Amino acid sequence: MAASAPVQLFSGRPVSPETPYQQYVYVYPHQKAYRRLESGPLLSELWRHEQLGSLSLYVHIPFCEMRCGFCNLFTRTGAPEDVTSAFLDTLGRQAQVTREALEASGRSVRFQLSAFGGGTPTYLTAAELTRLCDICENVMGADLRAVPWSVETSPATATADRLAVLAERGATRLSIGVQSFIDEEARAAVRPQKRAEVEGALTRLREAGFPILNIDLIYGIDGQTEASFRVSLDAALAWEPEEIYLYPLYVRPLTGLSTRHDKDRRQWDEQRLRLYRYGRDHLLAAGYEQTSMRVFRRLGTPADDLAEDTSISEYNQQAGMVGLGVGARSFTSALHYTTDYAVAVPEVRRIIDDYIATPTEEFRRAQWVFRMDDGERRRMYVLQWLLETVGLPVAGYRGLFGTEPEEDFPAEFALLREKRWLDDGESTVLRLTPEGMAWADAIGPLFFSPRVNDAMTSYLDK
Ligand SMILES: C[S@@+](CC[C@H](N)C(=O)[O-])C[C@H]1O[C@@H](n2cnc3c(N)ncnc32)[C@H](O)[C@@H]1O
Ligand code: SF4
Repeated sequence: MAASAPVQLFSGRPVSPETPYQQYVYVYPHQKAYRRLESGPLLSELWRHEQLGSLSLYVHIPFCEMRCGFCNLFTRTGAPEDVTSAFLDTLGRQAQVTREALEASGRSVRFQLSAFGGGTPTYLTAAELTRLCDICENVMGADLRAVPWSVETSPATATADRLAVLAERGATRLSIGVQSFIDEEARAAVRPQKRAEVEGALTRLREAGFPILNIDLIYGIDGQTEASFRVSLDAALAWEPEEIYLYPLYVRPLTGLSTRHDKDRRQWDEQRLRLYRYGRDHLLAAGYEQTSMRVFRRLGTPADDLAEDTSISEYNQQAGMVGLGVGARSFTSALHYTTDYAVAVPEVRRIIDDYIATPTEEFRRAQWVFRMDDGERRRMYVLQWLLETVGLPVAGYRGLFGTEPEEDFPAEFALLREKRWLDDGESTVLRLTPEGMAWADAIGPLFFSPRVNDAMTSYLDK
């Protein structure tokens, strides 16, 4: 597919980032760039010309037992059973009309990847998880047993009965948020949990026999040092997980930590950079490879086959992604769409209640949208590859867009070269240097379009 008309991409000299910690760019554009339409396009129109043979299914479960102080994900705590049950009723109705919209093209529909995220999908009971799997299989037509399928869990909710359901239905990857194996650090992050509870959950996860176990850790917590981070890294390594994610701590508006976090920015940046380098080197020495700033995979495990597509964990933008559940995003080549979402408690509750009360017919149309164009697709492609250790394949970009990445983004790549964040030894792949990877969260935003920046700036956090 060559470009038919020249695209205006150059947005002036980018400002050199002052901090490495600006934004985790795992999907472009961010949900804050989406806007609500009164009467959005029909899903059947949106999907009519898409590739339907290799779709991904993402289900967002907006429920948790507790609200961690650092977390700005779209989730409600302590939802009673009548709410989770009504949520699943609605998800079934949404699945039904979504499936009909996909089938309206007359072509065959196939899912090749699936993920349940949140929130905490295992907040649902074993019976509710069974129901959710039934909806995915019988209504959406996803063959969960046949595809890589990832589910997020937490220490308190990774119970034997829930894990048994997920294992029996064919989950291939379970990802657990641990954050820190040190109780005081977990408390400092407002994530009250006990190490014994974490170890118990990991025992049950291993007993359930999922092919891939992922453990999330956070660095940059108050009082965390290399020595204390090492305690968590080694405690995680003791389980020989196929994957470890190392997340730098972010403190975002409306989260529990935002009211009490008064760290000196420069010192905090230095702490996070130091801990990043320490954690990275420790995991590389322990036989892991790094695939992006946050992701480390154990070498030589069968997991490598299953997880060769890095996006199994969360989102897959290359093929179309179909989202179900409130807060889930869907990606077609022309439009990204989602429902409303929020962080603050009253807004979260209202949005979940509204979702539950949504008349079925309304699910036939996209609600909150971002219209993609040729320029945005170029930016999305750059971000998708440049921030991974495999790098951005120049020929792949040229094949899709008919130009070179450095032709389209001269100032951005010039800045990366000047900073020595781009490997000079490569000509076929644009690859970040190790130092560049440390700054990945600052490099990503350099490639945002003015349209996305404006929309994100004018978005009001709620
Ligand atoms: C959906 S949660 C994981 C599953 C589960 N809800 C749990 O917490 O155990 C995804 C992960 O994102 C990371 N995360 C979320 N918010 C973060 C923040 N503000 N700073 C750093 N990491 C964050 C945490 O490591 C968390 O485990
Ligand atoms: S980190 Fe996990 S358990 Fe904590 S509030 Fe966020 S999604 Fe829920």
